[in-house]
Amino acid sequence: MSYYEQIIESKDYLKKRVGTNLPEIAIVLGSGLGSFTDKIEVSHRIPYSDIPHFPPATVKGHEGALIFGTIEGKKVVAQAGRYHYYEGYDMKEVTLPIRVFKYLEAKVLLIASAVGGIHEDYEAGDVTVVNDHINLHHQNPLQGPNDERLGVRFPDMTDAYSPRLINMAHDIAEAQSINLHNSVYGGLPGPNLETKAEYNYLNIIGATVVGMSTVPEIIVAQHSGLESCVLTAVTNKCFPISAIKEVTHDEVIEVAQKTETKISTIVKEMIKRL
Ligand code: HPA
Repeated sequence: MSYYEQIIESKDYLKKRVGTNLPEIAIVLGSGLGSFTDKIEVSHRIPYSDIPHFPPATVKGHEGALIFGTIEGKKVVAQAGRYHYYEGYDMKEVTLPIRVFKYLEAKVLLIASAVGGIHEDYEAGDVTVVNDHINLHHQNPLQGPNDERLGVRFPDMTDAYSPRLINMAHDIAEAQSINLHNSVYGGLPGPNLETKAEYNYLNIIGATVVGMSTVPEIIVAQHSGLESCVLTAVTNKCFPISAIKEVTHDEVIEVAQKTETKISTIVKEMIKRL
């Protein structure tokens, strides 16, 4: 079965389950940000194990379900538990949900992710809106023959992070007195956190946050024609080098949970305005 046929089969299954509750907005919830699902008036909670071609989510803090419903009267689907390349999935598996969201007729993709901060001014607990990325994965979800039904061979990445949505996020943050940084996301495969030399390198090349997800999803969103916005929770300070402390994944999740109110506030208000 081709990748395209897998996408259609997943989409058809979900359409059958949710009926007319098709989402306008898709939300991807990263590490420690899963409780955003509390904001949804849930119509359907569908575990990955039910959905054709969806692999199981293996990471602690990631539920592994698509949640359909409404927020502020808008129809949404939330991906509670994302796939990461370091789990051993290939890039096409990692980004399958994004393809399916497009075929479910979502127009907008909102992503929340945990990141390391590699800017002097970023502290653990801060939030950022991503303006751009640097792909340091040695893989790309668009590698291989291009299926024109999914998008063009050479997608432009200039506005992959929607300027309209970045402005909207700032507008909301200002009104809510939330300090929101602009960031450039350096995407690495993980799963180890970076060495001091790597954090320093990332700072030198112009990244201001670093994480192990998001980049493949945004490449596919752009290929698919979804308008995207990424908000990040800075869970650990990684710059300057002298400020780096040892961190565990549990600490990453703990800090992400603390920043969750800020991200939730922005995302919820964005959904209202969309
Ligand atoms: N590096 C990569 N990914 C991360 C980090 C980090 O320091 N913190 C949270 N996600």
